[in-house]
Amino acid sequence: MNPDISQHEEWFAAYAARERAREHGDPAPMDLKLKHTMAVLDNARRMAESEGFAPALARACLLAALYHDVARFEQYLRYHTFRDRESCNHGLLGVKILKREARLAGEDAATRKIVLAAVGLHNRFVLPAHLPRETELAAHVVRDADKLDILRVMDEHLGGPGPYSPTVVLNLPDDPALAGQAVLRAALEGRVAAYADLRSVNDFRVLLNTWFFDMHFAASRRQFVEDGHARRLLEGLPSNAVYGPARAALLARLDGADARG
Ligand SMILES: [Fe+2]
Repeated sequence: MNPDISQHEEWFAAYAARERAREHGDPAPMDLKLKHTMAVLDNARRMAESEGFAPALARACLLAALYHDVARFEQYLRYHTFRDRESCNHGLLGVKILKREARLAGEDAATRKIVLAAVGLHNRFVLPAHLPRETELAAHVVRDADKLDILRVMDEHLGGPGPYSPTVVLNLPDDPALAGQAVLRAALEGRVAAYADLRSVNDFRVLLNTWFFDMHFAASRRQFVEDGHARRLLEGLPSNAVYGPARAALLARLDGADARG
């Protein structure tokens, strides 16, 4: 049984609506963040349930999932971008907002600590070593749940009719001649590829699939395969000499995970 966080969900919906109303330009990117948040919360619920977390930890995980991107609205209003490098760290801004709005005042001290840490850490490339166990678990739930929904967003976008939105593809050129060797190497070696090594949209398809190596829970790995987004993103790659080996290796990985159930 999952904990009831409906009061937090109600606050979040009202907050998102209030922030949206302050936007004088196109509010569509904020709508996408609201949809993303609810999908991440759904993913987190599945993980907490299948991992059989104790109720207090499950509650912290769900709150962290709900609030992980709370800063996206203020970030967009202020800077009109979701790129942290060009604006602010949205994980840390989220922590500030949660404190300012006293969102966790009704929770116990342990829950508050876990939620704030997981929100603040959710967008780091890697988690710091030696986190308290429950904080680490909650951070992994949010990070896995977040990545699974980014796969959905990217598959829906790259599977649709072009041209691609520059914002969604991180301003990368859709040029099959441009390949990031470090990204392809990471894929073949079973490591997560780094954003900094991306050269093209095709590299991005590869990078998204390398997230499989960073999925922390069996339930996340299962969903990674079952959702079908990862596979479709790979199938969009050319089977040429450059991308063929990484494409085949990653597809085989998905098939293997499938066979293992
Ligand atoms: Fe985020």
